[in-house]
Amino acid sequence: MSGGRVLRLGVLGSGRGSNLEAIARAIDEGRLPAKLAAVLSDRPGARILELGQKSGARTGAIVPATPRGRLDAKTEGKFVDILREEDVEVVVLAGFMRIVGPVFLAAYPRRIINVHPSLLPKHRGSEAAAQALAAGDTVTGCTVHYVDQGVDTGEIIAQREVPVQPGDTAETLQARIQTAEHELLPAVIASFAGHE
Ligand code: GRF
Repeated sequence: MSGGRVLRLGVLGSGRGSNLEAIARAIDEGRLPAKLAAVLSDRPGARILELGQKSGARTGAIVPATPRGRLDAKTEGKFVDILREEDVEVVVLAGFMRIVGPVFLAAYPRRIINVHPSLLPKHRGSEAAAQALAAGDTVTGCTVHYVDQGVDTGEIIAQREVPVQPGDTAETLQARIQTAEHELLPAVIASFAGHE
């Protein structure tokens, strides 16, 4: 750990925010020396924003010009401006359904991480649990990796295996993977805090 140093986090998500909850819990329980400085979304109604507010983070939604896919440079700039205003040091993508580009990557080199519900490089993109079932995998898992300009292609930081059980649906498997994510992601962020 960092001997009293508190890492300022920015979390970006588009949905439910269960990984944000896991991060907030780890902070509350003293397992993660961090502060949620900003919680941002591309979707104004996303539950993750409500959770961010409850955690005392600055929250905001920035709606990109296009409905999905890669962020345009102008939108990236708006996200980065807020993160910088809040002195964010590490950016966590937790269910952020957008691809970040050069503006983001230049602002936070090797300081943007993503959590993905598969053992990368297997099953990139969306529907990773369904992909694992379709492939007949008996073991899948989750990955925390650095973000680059690709989709789930960046350098792998840590992974955790999760068994596929007979009768699993994409939903039951995804739920089991998320339980593993909720342990792995705060632990990886804590290691960042320790290395500062
Ligand atoms: C997680 O399963 C993550 O792996 C994927 O999106 C999901 C986000 O879930 N990238 P939540 O919003 O944190 O509940």
